[in-house]
Amino acid sequence: MDNISRLMFAVVMAMAYMAMGAEAQNTTMAPNSNATMANVTMAPNVTMTSNVAMAPNVTMAPNVTMAPNVTMTSNVTMTPVTALTVNISMAECKKSQLCAAKPPNCDPAVAGSCFFVSIKSVEVHNANFSFQLRGVSSGYIAVGLSKTSTQGQNDTTYVCANNNGKVKFFTALLDKGVLTINNKLPVDSVKGSVNDHTIQCTFSATVPNATATRSIDTSYYLSISNGTFNSDTLGSPQAILNSDKAVDLTDPNTTVLNSLNSAPSAFCLSQAPLILIGVLGMMML
Ligand SMILES: *[C@@H]1O[C@H](CO)[C@@H](O)[C@H](O)[C@H]1NC(C)=O
Ligand SMILES: *[C@@H]1O[C@H](CO)[C@@H](O)[C@H](O)[C@H]1NC(C)=O
Ligand SMILES: *[C@@H]1O[C@H](CO)[C@@H](O)[C@H](O)[C@H]1NC(C)=O
Ligand SMILES: *[C@@H]1O[C@H](CO)[C@@H](O)[C@H](O)[C@H]1NC(C)=O
Ligand SMILES: *[C@@H]1O[C@H](CO)[C@@H](O)[C@H](O)[C@H]1NC(C)=O
Ligand SMILES: *[C@@H]1O[C@H](CO)[C@@H](O)[C@H](O)[C@H]1NC(C)=O
Ligand SMILES: *[C@@H]1O[C@H](CO)[C@@H](O)[C@H](O)[C@H]1NC(C)=O
Ligand SMILES: *[C@@H]1O[C@H](CO)[C@@H](O)[C@H](O)[C@H]1NC(C)=O
Ligand SMILES: *[C@@H]1O[C@H](CO)[C@@H](O)[C@H](O)[C@H]1NC(C)=O
Ligand SMILES: *[C@@H]1O[C@H](CO)[C@@H](O)[C@H](O)[C@H]1NC(C)=O
Ligand SMILES: *[C@@H]1O[C@H](CO)[C@@H](O)[C@H](O)[C@H]1NC(C)=O
Ligand SMILES: *[C@@H]1O[C@H](CO)[C@@H](O)[C@H](O)[C@H]1NC(C)=O
Repeated sequence: MDNISRLMFAVVMAMAYMAMGAEAQNTTMAPNSNATMANVTMAPNVTMTSNVAMAPNVTMAPNVTMAPNVTMTSNVTMTPVTALTVNISMAECKKSQLCAAKPPNCDPAVAGSCFFVSIKSVEVHNANFSFQLRGVSSGYIAVGLSKTSTQGQNDTTYVCANNNGKVKFFTALLDKGVLTINNKLPVDSVKGSVNDHTIQCTFSATVPNATATRSIDTSYYLSISNGTFNSDTLGSPQAILNSDKAVDLTDPNTTVLNSLNSAPSAFCLSQAPLILIGVLGMMML
């Protein structure tokens, strides 16, 4: 281990220590006390660089537990989340905001299993939208934006997770059923609340590649999903809603149908051509 790594490690430890000091209000941190590091909430600002090598030779305080599995994404700054004190409302649906829900038209302000997302165009030219997301999960809920009808090919995904009763926010890419946190998407003003398994969050985001010139640029296949959240790891998402078509986020009057709701009829429709092909195939034999 070289001196630079040691220095880096010391700096990281010092930052963690300072964060700890900031969190523990008026608690005297005696240097030799058996403080357990595990329960320290990192201040939102603390940026952890992942390229610090953990030298085996560093002497740690005996009982300090370093969670081995915590994913420290390089250069990622956690998005600060403030408390959301109101219930998400459907009042502006079809007026100023595009809404999608499962079950269709369920009221997000009423307790129960309602998954709801609304998207409101804030600043068209900058592709800035304000989102409201509400759903039921023991872990996380997420809203995804896909350019293709096949969801899960590096789709932009905004994730609100239940972190011990508080919302932790991530941006992630969904690729082949795996959510990879990147926290690099431009997001602002994140608020959240957790009530039992009901998670609500609001945020504004600049959606990727969207410019106001053509509606196709602001059109996305929408999805809502949920999944488990354990020690900063997002379980694979379970799809709750997939929009039946690409919807223009700037058009509040769009009705978003859930292609997962119509699964049986979609099955029949997709079966018909297959049967036809089968019959034709047999005729050719
Ligand atoms: C810390 O303690 C001092 C004096 O006991 C008090 O004035 C101050 O408000 C306390 N700060 C916090 C954050 O509790
Ligand atoms: C710290 O831990 C040691 C060993 O477990 C114990 O003897 C000592 O009393 C502890 N000190 C405090 C302040 O808890
Ligand atoms: C962390 O600390 C909080 C408040 O101090 C406490 O409610 C919680 O149970 C602790 N969690 C663990 C894992 O020790
Ligand atoms: C933490 O972030 C806030 C807002 O982003 C900023 O004003 C403040 O200076 C930051 N503090 C540190 C210690 O970086
Ligand atoms: C650990 O560091 C100490 C002092 O820096 C050194 O004497 C010792 O040889 C090192 N041990 C290993 C295994 O590198
Ligand atoms: C570490 O913690 C365990 C249980 O929490 C305790 O049995 C053990 O004595 C502690 N060791 C030291 C060195 O404090
Ligand atoms: C997390 O830990 C579990 C069990 O300890 C292990 O199976 C898994 O591979 C680890 N994941 C990572 C990303 O290290
Ligand atoms: C962190 O970001 C800076 C500039 O954005 C870059 O120069 C540096 O290489 C990054 N470090 C890591 C570990 O990605
Ligand atoms: C996701 O939502 C479904 C439907 O409400 C529910 O059955 C499932 O338990 C939820 N997943 C998690 C991880 O809570
Ligand atoms: C998703 O992104 C990764 C890394 O950026 C890339 O390797 C992969 O090919 C992308 N997949 C798709 C379907 O675009
Ligand atoms: C956004 O633009 C980048 C660069 O032009 C491209 O690689 C990426 O595939 C685009 N993403 C979407 C969702 O269209
Ligand atoms: C919304 O669409 C409905 C029918 O699709 C139409 O009757 C209504 O006028 C539209 N409202 C607005 C504000 O465009």
